[in-house]
Amino acid sequence: MRRIESKLPKVGTTIFTLMSQLAAEHRAVNLSQGFPDFLPPTLLLELVERCTRGRYHQYALMPGSMALRTAIATKLAALYGVTADPATEITVTSGATEAIFDAIQAVVRRDDEVIVFDPCYDSYEPSITLAGGRAIHLPLTQPDFTVDWNRLKTALNEHTRLVIVNTPHNPSGALLGREDFARLAELLRPYDCYLLSDEVYEHVVFDGAQHATALANRELAARCFAVFSFGKTYHATGWKLGYCVAPPDLSAELRRVHQYVTFASTSPLQQALAEYMTAHPEHHLGLPAFYQERRDYFAAQLADTRFRPLRSAGTYFQLADYGAISALPDVEFARWLTIEHGVATIPVSVFYETPPDTRLVRFCFAKENATLDAAAQRLRRL
Ligand SMILES: Cc1ncc(COP(=O)(O)O)c(C=O)c1O
Repeated sequence: MRRIESKLPKVGTTIFTLMSQLAAEHRAVNLSQGFPDFLPPTLLLELVERCTRGRYHQYALMPGSMALRTAIATKLAALYGVTADPATEITVTSGATEAIFDAIQAVVRRDDEVIVFDPCYDSYEPSITLAGGRAIHLPLTQPDFTVDWNRLKTALNEHTRLVIVNTPHNPSGALLGREDFARLAELLRPYDCYLLSDEVYEHVVFDGAQHATALANRELAARCFAVFSFGKTYHATGWKLGYCVAPPDLSAELRRVHQYVTFASTSPLQQALAEYMTAHPEHHLGLPAFYQERRDYFAAQLADTRFRPLRSAGTYFQLADYGAISALPDVEFARWLTIEHGVATIPVSVFYETPPDTRLVRFCFAKENATLDAAAQRLRRL
């Protein structure tokens, strides 16, 4: 046998896994990987227990439990005024990550170009590479992490098959507004190009802002895969459940991939979520205030340190500039902070193809006060 030639030679173990491992090794407070350390709603946990004791143990329907898809459609209509047919336009997947992978495999062919905006979520590029496509990385502007529309206009061409946007944006927390989607629609109009809108933090927006979904823009909705995550909304990232909303022709192609990636996602959790969403359609309404309190609590703690927090308009992440503390590059700084001072973060350069010369790390503040207090106590010593 010849030595195996990697199809993803640039990919190693992700920084999220590495930092969590390092945090465990050095007993650091782990504010690196993006997961909450509080429980999902009690009733939801009771429903999971009931469903696992009940009859939900065999394969769910390939596109997802009909009860869950119907609950999703009801929510989309109530929240965004968006009509999506559960039979043909909503697909439940094993996390948003699977939906992203499926959508990319469905439309990207060899040598197609896919535009992504750096800093960007780490699963996009490997999924593009496996489809034979080429990721074209455009930087978001500094320091506000907005899209440079002129740069996008220049980058678009007849080889562009897909553009990927993410709002609220991980890691910066920046939001796209309705007018941004209108501009995007105008720029994509001449091209045979799809849109993947990663909206997994749709309910984590602050200071009275409303999440703008690409689905509310009719022109974009016709070419869009919009991706959402139950993990983020119900504090259950480990359940790995998400969904994709797309027009029937795009959903049909996505399902062709989904059918042979996972076939179907876990049955009892889908049933429990469907029942919970029906019993508590208002659950998400409390999330902005819930997370804003966490953001503000952590920001107040950071105020007593030499970190300089950037504005976080959404997501459960806080970027902070450590330039007053150290001149180390961010990957080294994050290792040093974990090993020597017991707080794990994510260095922002890992979200870039060509990192800018900044000194930024990402903190996850989806944590109990005690966890944030323990981190802050250590950060104040720096
Ligand atoms: C921007 C973004 N997209 C997608 C995902 C993946 O979501 P899921 O855990 O549902 O696969 C994450 C998770 O951190 C994320 O931050």
